[in-house]
Amino acid sequence: MEKHPKFTFIDLFSGIGGFHHGLLQCGGRCVMASDIDPVTVESYTRNFGIVPRGDVCEIISEDIPDFDVLCGGFPCQPFSNIGQKGGLEDSRGTLIFQVARILRDKRPKAFILENVKGLMTINKGTIFSRMLEELTSSGYTVYHMILEAKDYGVPQIRKRLFIIGFRDDLDVDFSFPEPTGCALKLSDILKGKTEREYGFTVRVGGRHSGIDNKFNWDCYTVDGSIHYITPEECLQLQGFPSSHYLAGNSADKYRQIGNSVPTTIVRELGKALVSTGVFDPQPP
Ligand SMILES: C[S@@+](CC[C@H](N)C(=O)[O-])C[C@H]1O[C@@H](n2cnc3c(N)ncnc32)[C@H](O)[C@@H]1O
Repeated sequence: MEKHPKFTFIDLFSGIGGFHHGLLQCGGRCVMASDIDPVTVESYTRNFGIVPRGDVCEIISEDIPDFDVLCGGFPCQPFSNIGQKGGLEDSRGTLIFQVARILRDKRPKAFILENVKGLMTINKGTIFSRMLEELTSSGYTVYHMILEAKDYGVPQIRKRLFIIGFRDDLDVDFSFPEPTGCALKLSDILKGKTEREYGFTVRVGGRHSGIDNKFNWDCYTVDGSIHYITPEECLQLQGFPSSHYLAGNSADKYRQIGNSVPTTIVRELGKALVSTGVFDPQPP
């Protein structure tokens, strides 16, 4: 943990801690996490020594310590193309309103949210507009952009939507960070010659669909032989060390990584937030 953090954050829908891992690398300190999945909670606790609280809906704002940045990769199932397209009618979709409640009550300086890019187009964009409206009317200037993992340090094809907000009174004119490129290659992670430069999107479902199947994401040819990607290799594709602890059985492990956020993108976003100068300098 940073002894003199540059900023503090809360990690909502914390999963295995993609936000936490990324923001630790740019001077952040986590003051609270929350997740409802017991397996995920076990992973997070072992990795970071913080026990995530449960359901965000049941967390009273007064019980949340003060913090600078709210982070949240809110559940994407209702919005993703492979989901049921239930949108806001699906109760998981309404979790964005819990985020807005905490923003209004706690008034942090900034927030970073992550979701699938399909969120922008579902119901002809009406759901996304409604969400932006909710965040804007909570007193934040909001920016959004689709960022690609392989442009920010990890050899994975994974486009995700990032929504960043700054409290209106801070008057921040934010620019998303420029791509850093990707020195790490898929062949470095799979330790052999691969036909592909970048790995497929690490997903929650669809394992073992077969190398020629259009849904394949877990099978590669390495040095001419078929190789099924391991959880440790998936962790590296998301920017975690291969030693990051994952609780549960094999299916649990892949699910937790597939749900996570590329930590290298989070790190670059964190640096960009710090460079706006909105955080108070901490005493040495
Ligand atoms: C898309 S994942 C986010 C993963 C995380 N960003 C990471 O890096 O691992 C969404 C997470 O939200 C959790 N979740 C779902 N509903 C929740 C709720 N009501 N309160 C807190 N967590 C919730 C799920 O268990 C899941 O771990």
